[in-house]
Amino acid sequence: MDARRKRRIVRYELPLKQYLSDLPGKGGGCKLVLFQRGRDESLLLALNNQIFSEHPDQGSWNMDTLINKLNETIKFDSDLQILHYEGEPSGFIWLKHHDQSGFAVCEIFVMGVLDKLRGLGLGKYLVSSALDVIKKLGYSTAWVYTDESNTRARKLYESFGFRFDFIEEL
Ligand SMILES: CC(C)(COP(=O)(O)OP(=O)(O)OC[C@H]1O[C@@H](n2cnc3c(N)ncnc32)[C@H](O)[C@@H]1OP(=O)(O)O)[C@@H](O)C(=O)NCCC(=O)NCCS
Repeated sequence: MDARRKRRIVRYELPLKQYLSDLPGKGGGCKLVLFQRGRDESLLLALNNQIFSEHPDQGSWNMDTLINKLNETIKFDSDLQILHYEGEPSGFIWLKHHDQSGFAVCEIFVMGVLDKLRGLGLGKYLVSSALDVIKKLGYSTAWVYTDESNTRARKLYESFGFRFDFIEEL
């Protein structure tokens, strides 16, 4: 990517009233394991940097970046889960909570699947599991941000009913 070009980031919103869980029967071979501080940081860093290797910012995190992001975001145990597919760590899903003037929203902060396992339905499994968690926590709205150019992610979110909210330039 041309470093001088601004990134255009899309925010999507989903009113959770219209989301009905479709997890039963899905996710064969998948297991989600709660992230554990003191045990899983190196695993998460390795997954993050592989999954986002082509991303301008996120593919080159170091341990300090990761720890700062964890400290900024994690509120509940279910906020960060590692995806194991057929027994191997294969991706993750990470939530972030927002409370602006009493308007509480939960964001799918980061999610991804290893390149070699894309297109198998693991992304859908992750989003579906995250929305179940967000709903159980009592939120009525979910957000997700992604690069405008990330067609795969955008299609995935749109398939769950996420609707375009706005674009910002970074
Ligand atoms: C976005 C991402 C999570 C999708 O995961 P995935 O496991 O490949 O997705 P799935 O197999 O569950 O497919 C879900 C939907 O994504 C879209 N999709 C998947 N593969 C695609 C491809 N090769 N081209 C276009 N769209 C694709 C489709 O809409 C698909 O639904 P469909 O099968 O009903 O058509 C994955 O590509 C990824 O990890 N990308 C890098 C990290 C990232 O961009 N994360 C999101 C921003 S934080």
